[in-house]
Amino acid sequence: MSDLSLKKIHKSFGNVPVIHGVDLEVKSGEFVVFVGPSGCGKSTLLRIIAGLEEATKGTIEIDKEIVNEVIAAERGVAMVFQSYALYPHMTVFDNMAFSLKNAKVNENEINERVKEAASILQIDDYLERLPKQLSGGQRQRVAIGRAIVRNPKIFLFDEPLSNLDAALRVQTRIEISKLHKQLKSTMVYVTHDQIEAMTLADRIVVINNGIIEQIGTPIELYSDPQNKFVAEFIGSPKMNILEVENNNKLIIKNEEIKPNTSKIGIRPEHILISNEDNFKLSGKIRHLENLGEHLLTYISLENNEEIIAKVDNVGDRKIGDKINLFWDSSKIHYFNKENKRI
Ligand SMILES: Nc1ncnc2c1ncn2[C@@H]1O[C@H](COP(=O)(O)OP(=O)(O)O)[C@@H](O)[C@H]1O
Ligand SMILES: [Mg+2]
Repeated sequence: MSDLSLKKIHKSFGNVPVIHGVDLEVKSGEFVVFVGPSGCGKSTLLRIIAGLEEATKGTIEIDKEIVNEVIAAERGVAMVFQSYALYPHMTVFDNMAFSLKNAKVNENEINERVKEAASILQIDDYLERLPKQLSGGQRQRVAIGRAIVRNPKIFLFDEPLSNLDAALRVQTRIEISKLHKQLKSTMVYVTHDQIEAMTLADRIVVINNGIIEQIGTPIELYSDPQNKFVAEFIGSPKMNILEVENNNKLIIKNEEIKPNTSKIGIRPEHILISNEDNFKLSGKIRHLENLGEHLLTYISLENNEEIIAKVDNVGDRKIGDKINLFWDSSKIHYFNKENKRI
């Protein structure tokens, strides 16, 4: 278990800056997830922690020790990649044992560590197989096993589930979470999938264009996003944003909009259908998606903006129906012109 600290990290490739001053403290044993759109700098930041890229400016500390000059193999970190990166000509056992053999660990200990990791990951039966004789999910376990045997201070995962099909992704996600509880190691995990982030993280770091937009627990980011980017990134379907600055655009009844508000946000799951006169918005159903328990209702408002409501799947709703909407005012998020929460 280990602390990790990033101080004012900048990174440029050539003269193109991609990370613009990142500060982050990860506590020992914490599971921290970096989430953000493709290209925002997640992998670069992870590779800087691993020692696979050099920071242009700033310091990286592991256990209070500056490691900028320490090579990857000696940082005590182990990284698991999306591509698995297994050696194709080596058995599962040899893949897992490889880094230990390189480090001249004695044979008995190698045997013990590989067997233990294999048992945690339930791949004991495959130790003599080659990677090509395994399914994608099994290969990813071997890649995780290869990290476990090294007994690293910090595990780094870069989108480890992206190559798996949907069902296996859910299953492996749960296993990684259990693994964290069992090993109690510090883990930094990169994903562009906000559901993975929400379900795995102690804390989530939302990254956008090489800066941190917000750091918080999953529930803090969901209930208290600091800006429009985080508000829209966390939650699915994403938060509805309505322009309220110009009254000619949209008339919301029975709602007192804060002064200086340029936009309001309301999550689809917080919109209710109203049969009474105290509704706030009205519109027409344009499209319906039946999720079983819930119905995603796409509604076009009087000013032609569209909004999505996730409502209980009761009653008989059809495209073209007029519909009145309501919500609890405490569920509204207010944003100013700069898209900061107010
Ligand atoms: N080796 C490299 N050389 C030049 N540009 C790079 C290199 N690696 C990444 N980049 C650029 O840095 C930005 C961040 O990339 P990356 O960290 O891979 O994003 P993410 O993992 O969030 O999708 C992107 O614009 C990418 O094109
Ligand atoms: Mg990446």
